[in-house]
Formats: sequence, structure tokens, C-alpha cells
Amino acid sequence: MILILDFGGQYNQLIARRIRENNVYCEVHNYSEKVFDLIDKLKPRGIILTGGPQSVYAEDSIKCNEKIFDLNIPILGICYGAQAMTYALGGNVEKAEISEYGKTELKIVDDSKVVIDVEKNSVDYFVTAESKLFVSVEKKSIVWMSHTDRITNPPENFKVTAFTENCPIAALENADRKLYAVQFHPEVVHTVEGKKILSNFVDICKCKRDWQMSSFVENTIKQLKEKIGDKKALCALSGGVDSSVAAVLMSKAIGKNLTCVFVDHGLLRKNEADEVESVFNNYDLNFIRVDAGERFLTKLQGVTEPERKRKIIGEEFIRVFESEAKKIGKVDFLVQGTIYPDVIESGLGKSAVIKSHHNVGGLPDHVDFKEIVEPLRLLFKDEVREAGRQLGLPENLVSRQPFPGPGLGIRIIGEVTAEKIKIVQEADYIYREEIAKAKVEGLGQYFAALTNMRSVGVMGDGRTYDYAIALRAVMTSDFMTAEAAPLPFEVLNKVANRIVNEVKGVNRVLYDCTSKPPATIEFE
Ligand code: XMP
Repeated sequence: MILILDFGGQYNQLIARRIRENNVYCEVHNYSEKVFDLIDKLKPRGIILTGGPQSVYAEDSIKCNEKIFDLNIPILGICYGAQAMTYALGGNVEKAEISEYGKTELKIVDDSKVVIDVEKNSVDYFVTAESKLFVSVEKKSIVWMSHTDRITNPPENFKVTAFTENCPIAALENADRKLYAVQFHPEVVHTVEGKKILSNFVDICKCKRDWQMSSFVENTIKQLKEKIGDKKALCALSGGVDSSVAAVLMSKAIGKNLTCVFVDHGLLRKNEADEVESVFNNYDLNFIRVDAGERFLTKLQGVTEPERKRKIIGEEFIRVFESEAKKIGKVDFLVQGTIYPDVIESGLGKSAVIKSHHNVGGLPDHVDFKEIVEPLRLLFKDEVREAGRQLGLPENLVSRQPFPGPGLGIRIIGEVTAEKIKIVQEADYIYREEIAKAKVEGLGQYFAALTNMRSVGVMGDGRTYDYAIALRAVMTSDFMTAEAAPLPFEVLNKVANRIVNEVKGVNRVLYDCTSKPPATIEFE
């Protein structure tokens, strides 16, 4: 395993994820003076010191105990970690004249063979360092920097192996002691050769690369068993990937002591509630399905403003969940399917509210429980999907595209009525069926929405005055930005024909070609 010692940087879980991608187990622990006990216990093959917000020369900053560098364990310092290593071993770190944020070009160089002259910007001029960290890495490549301090003098017996325009010491090492340091962030995707660099470090550590998601699943079940013992836990299940995987992990750990409450707000896709129920009937847990569609519809009557709709649905969800929880009696633990991107996003907290997101795992105010359990807190979405597969969840649930907490409530523009829910469910079902048949790949999300527009059409020999359905399909990796997908016209045409023929109340189908921004993925 590789031990990641956290100095408080933003990307530390991303480092962990990159290491797991190399099939190597890793754990992230805050750096503290107890680190030697931890190393004794975990026996890591390698250690990574992460970035962090402090300055090593500040009195109150976390310093790295220099004895860690004598353990003969390969160590990679990243950003603050590089500075902490340098400082601990007698090198020099100062405030940089020019802070570097964002992309910059890294050049790999052997400082023992040439004088570093950042003015001469030709790669041929340099003798490339033969660093194990940079095996097969391009001599010049784009890296991502985020620092205000920089290393100005390496520790004794360290050589500089790379530089950038504003950072003459961007990488350094003492290969004999297996100590490596980089000022840039290899873990972020903007560092083009980052994955290779981290993979090279894994090789330096001589890790076996035999860790799999199944080990995460086994360990987590074991840890949950120990933590919860014979106490009771409650899980708000939405039927989405995250809460489903969290629920199944819990059920494997504590069986019938877990109760899952699945609130069907009546705004799910066609057949979805039944599908969720049938999946969870296969597990050894208490499953409660609450059909609360009527209750939600009543609350939504006459409401057209998107934010109010979202708030009502979110609030009502919690009320239903609470009243079910009260019936169950006292529970000690509340299980949530929080995943790592949720943790990062909720940590930022300063950005403008575009839409108030509602996750059904949201915390009720008045339920009587002692602690929240978030078994997926450190995983990224694709890792959660993999864990779901390991747990034997069906593929249609595991690879399910994101579905918003307020459900079809925000895919029906204007007032939500039973008739409109039915229309959008049927249209969406047809759309999904045709996309699956056509095997369209690369879509991040696709769905049908019901516009609040009615227009004139002709059917048989008569006039119609019916709704228009809007189809949306986007390509996106992070859902923060998205591009409209160029769906084949035959597919769109087929879907449109089927919808107007099979769904009563619709006489027109439109395709949304807008990207995000300026539009959003959902309509409300
Ligand atoms: P927007 O519409 O903001 O959506 O571009 C971005 C992604 O977030 C999903 N979404 C939600 N997910 N609760 C959720 O759990 C919500 O309230 C919510 N609103 C939007 C949306 O489906 C897309 O994937």
C-alpha cells in the first residue's frame, strides 16, 4: 500500500484515486507526529506528502519530521509536500516573486550536466534527466501549478530534474535515498503526463499492482460491521447508484438491522419505483416503500416557479422520511450515499446558487440518530459504479445516468399535474428505448422534458392543440459544462414519430441544441 500524508490540500483524494487506478491500495491520513506509529502499523511501500495551504517557513505550519526520510521508504512530495521535504532536509523555500497558478510548461533537465538558463527555451539545449520518476515522460509537457512559495535551494545531494519558466526548481530528487519532489500537481488531469509520473512512482515503490475494488468492498463491510455492531441504521434510498451501493454495503455488514426507506414521490421515471423495489427485495434488509405521489402532487398544485418546486419537493421528501423514521423508533446511524465530488462541492460554499440541489440522502433535521455513516465518501462516481458491480447490483442500476432528486418535477416546465407526469414518463421511456436500440455511445445524460408550450397540429383530418416534448442529450464528463450531443437524425426522427403516435397529448417534438453554459442540463 501507499500512505498519503495529508497537509490539507484540495486534491488529496484525487491523488488517492490516481494511485487506486494503478491497482495499488492507499490510505489518506492527516500528517501528525503520530505518523511513525501509523507507518509501523500500515507498513507502506511508499509515502506521498500532499499539497497544502501553508508556508513551511511560517511558525505555525505543519513541518515534516526529517526522520521520515531516513526510513528507506520511497517518498514523493507534491507542492507543499515538496517544500516540506526540502525544508526538513535543509534546503530553502521562499515566497515566489511570481505566483504560478494554472497551466505551464515543464522541462525535464539534468542540472549536473547543464546550467539551467530559463531564457534559452529550447529542449535540445538540455540534457534530459534520467529520473525514474520521468521514465517515458515527454521532455516538455504541460503541468498544472498552484503555488505562492517556491524552492530556491535544494537540500544537499539532491539534483534538480525539471523547471518551468517561473519555477527554476520544479522537480528534484535524491534517487539514492528514493526521495522525489515535484512542485506541480501530477494528480490533476491538466498535468498531461501526470498519470505516467504517478505510475512511475508506483514502480519506484515496487508495488505489486494487484489491488481491486473487491478489496475495498470487503474491507468496508468489515469496518462497518465493527463500527455498527448490533445497533440499528436507517438509509434514505433514492434508487440512484450512490444510495443503492451504500445501502447494499450496509446490508452486507448489518443485515436486518438496516432499514431502507424508499420514498416514491411519484416523479420517477416509468417503472422505476418497481425496479428499485425488486432489486432490494433480493437483499437481507428491511425495505419500506412509501408511495407518496399524491402527497407531493397536492403540495405542488398551482406552483410554477422552478426554485419553489425544488424546495417543496426537497422539504416534503424529508417530512415523509421523518415520519417513517419515527415509526421505526430509535436508530443510531443514518446512512448516506455521499461521494467524494459531493464532499468537494459542498466544501466550496461560496459559489452562486444556480439551482438548489436536492439529494434524497439529505439530512433530516429532527430524526433521532447519533451519527451519519458515509461509506462512499472517498470514492468517485465511476469507482462507486465498480463497487456496485462487485456487490452484484444489476448493470442497469449500476450504470444508470444521473437523475435529479426532484425528478420529473423539474422536467415538467410550469405546474406539475398527474397528466403531465404520465406524458413525460411515456415520452422519456420511448426516447431511452430508441437510444438503447441505436446503441448511441458517449452520452452523459439524456431525457425527455415536457415544455409548457402547446401548439397546433393535424392528426387524421382533425386539428390538435397539444404539448411539445423537448429531447435533451448531452456529452459531459463533470456535468458542470456540457455540449449538446449530435444525435443521428434517423434516431431523432424515429423517437419523434413514436412519441407523437404513442403518447396522448403530444403533437410536436423538439431537440435542444444548447450547451451548458449558457443553458443548464435540466430545464428547471
Ligand atoms: P444542471 O441542470 O444544473 O444539472 O446543469 C447538472 C447535473 O445535476 C443533476 N441535478 C441534480 N441532481 N439533485 C441531484 O441529485 C438535484 O436537485 C439536481 N438538479 C440537477 C442534473 O441531472 C445533472 O446531471
